[in-house]
This record gives sequence, C-alpha cells and structure tokens, in this order.
Amino acid sequence: MENKNFAKSSEKISRLGFGSWGIGKTFWIGAEDNESKKALHKAIELGINFFDSALVYGNGHSEKLIGEVEKESGKELFITSKIPSKKFEWPANDKSTLEDSFPEKQILQSTERSLRNLNRDYLDLQQFHVWNDKWADRDEWKETVLKLKKDGKVKYFGISINDHQAENGIKAAESGLIDSFQVIFNIFDQSPIDKLFPFCLENNISIIARVPLDEGGLTGNITDKTEFPKGDWRNNYFKGDRKTKVRERVKKIGSDMGTECESIAECALRFTISFDAVTTVIPGMRNTSRVVDNVDIINKGVLSPGLIEKLKSHKWERNFYR
Ligand SMILES: NC(=O)c1ccc[n+]([C@@H]2O[C@H](COP(=O)([O-])OP(=O)(O)OC[C@H]3O[C@@H](n4cnc5c(N)ncnc54)[C@H](OP(=O)(O)O)[C@@H]3O)[C@@H](O)[C@H]2O)c1
Repeated sequence: MENKNFAKSSEKISRLGFGSWGIGKTFWIGAEDNESKKALHKAIELGINFFDSALVYGNGHSEKLIGEVEKESGKELFITSKIPSKKFEWPANDKSTLEDSFPEKQILQSTERSLRNLNRDYLDLQQFHVWNDKWADRDEWKETVLKLKKDGKVKYFGISINDHQAENGIKAAESGLIDSFQVIFNIFDQSPIDKLFPFCLENNISIIARVPLDEGGLTGNITDKTEFPKGDWRNNYFKGDRKTKVRERVKKIGSDMGTECESIAECALRFTISFDAVTTVIPGMRNTSRVVDNVDIINKGVLSPGLIEKLKSHKWERNFYR
C-alpha cells in the first residue's frame, strides 16, 4: 500500500483509509460487529493505517471497535475523530454562532469522550465535524486547538467541511492551525479541484477525500429497483427519481471508462487518488471483501491523464443530503 506524508509531518498514512461511519451503525443498517472487526483487522493486515471515525458514529461505537482492534493488532494506527457541533447540526446552520456550536467545553469534552471510547491517551487527528468560516477569525477556537495540542491530547487538527461547500474552511486554515480538510470529493462533486486543492498544495495541508463512492451511487450497484433496509438513511438520499438519474449518469461514466477500469467503483476510487492534493481516500467499508477489493483497486494507482480529463466532464451539481 502506497503511503503519503500527513500534512507537514513526516508521518506516513496509507492512500486508502477506512471510512467507519457504516460500522458505527448510525443511520446505516446492516453492519455486524464481528464482521466489522474482521474488516478492520484485514485492513491493517493489508497496510491500511488511517482510520476515520467520529464521536457520533454509533455514539462512540465505531471508535470503540477501532480502539479494540488497534489493541488486538499490536500496531500503532493513525486514528481520527470528529467533534459534533453542540447544536448537533449537519451542516452548520448559517445563523449558528461559534458559541452555539463549538464552545471550549464542547471541544474538550468531546475529545475526552473519544479518547475513552478509543482507550487511548491521544488522537492523531481531531476534526470539527462541521464548520462555518464566519467563525474563522475568532480566537476562542484557536486557543482551544492549541491547548489540545499542548496537552498532548491531539497531534493534528482538521476540519470536516460541510457537504458540497468545498471552500468553507479556507479562511480558518489561514490561521496555520489546520493540518487537514476532509471533504466530499468524487466524480460527481469535483468542486474541491478549483480552489481547495491548490490552497492545500501550497500550504501542505492534507486532503482526506470522503464519500468517494457517492454513498453507493458511484459503484454501479444502484438501479431503479435498489431497495435499502427499512430505517437506512439512504432511502432518503436516493429518494424519488434519484436512483434513475444516478443510473443514467453512471452508464455514461461506464462507456467513457472503457477497459481502463474493471468497475465503476474502481474508476471512482482511482479518480480521487489521481489528484496530488489528495493524501488519502476513505470509502465506507463494512466487511472484509470490500476491504480486499478496495486495497486491490488503490494498489492499481492513478488513472491515465486521458481518462481523468474525460471523467471531469461527469461532474454533477446537486445535494442529495436534503
Ligand atoms: N460529515 C462528515 O464528516 C462525513 C460525512 C460522510 C462520510 N464521512 C466519512 O467518509 C467515509 C466514506 O463515506 P460513506 O461511507 O458515507 O460513503 P462512500 O464511501 O461514498 O460509500 C459507501 C458505500 O460504498 C460501498 N462500497 C465500498 N467499497 C465498494 C466497492 N469496492 N464496490 C462496491 N461498493 C462499495 C459500501 O458498501 P456496503 O453497503 O456493502 O458497505 C457503501 O454502501 C465515512 O465512512 C466516514 O468515515 C464523513
């Protein structure tokens, strides 16, 4: 597995990271803890060291599984978490203030809870789970981030950018305190390419590409007849005629892809790592076979410049989270 330096550090993280929302079982129906743990172990065995989590994924459940597997494996992993806004908003409402969302107490207490869940003394990376650059100039969040770093609770700090708002974080990073951005980046949402990627390359800030498979849309597995389990949040994401629209788009990607990729998922994952700014890509994985397949995919490396250009024409502006 290829590695890349994380931000300005000399620490190496794997180009394929483990997205762990699904194994936390919040909104996603279907994961089983035994299988989730096997998948985490398999990931470590195959060279993945980057594990993305959040306090809210199963109210700490995903963190607990990752923490257990880290101890069982005897390996030191690079583990991330996220601080939910005190108002529990996704994305941050434009009217919410810093006091409403990330007062010092919220930042410190959430971090302590994540550390307890992980059974660890420090987090490699802590992130704001939502953000609004209206708060960028305020000193309070900066002081708390510095305190967490000084106390050794957090090595690096980042922002998980609101859905489809790729530039809403750049101002905060001008403080020099932001080591990474986690952002939606896939064949449909290519907006980070315009400003965020050049800014991050220039400032040595890592990009963690999230939702690389458009929650399943970019796998080729969504058809008009696809049904999600009752209670699974994707009944909303792919509601109405959205499955049909996705299917039509994916068919076109398939014909442009030709023989360079064996599947839409391969094309989608390799597209993300074809951009220098992307340090790691974190597809959601809930079982061993997804881990094995995705490691094989990432090990094939970047796409040809010709295919990357073709795929650029498939960008699609929309927000299915609403
Ligand atoms: N606001 C935030 O900070 C935020 C929001 C969303 C996500 N995230 C992070 O980003 C990670 C990735 O996003 P996500 O999990 O929501 O969406 P995603 O990675 O775009 O899609 C996950 C879906 O892709 C499927 N899949 C994975 N590998 C596949 C393959 N090789 N072939 C076919 N299907 C494959 C999974 O299958 P199965 O159904 O079989 O599991 C699952 O249904 C999350 O796990 C989380 O860590 C952060």
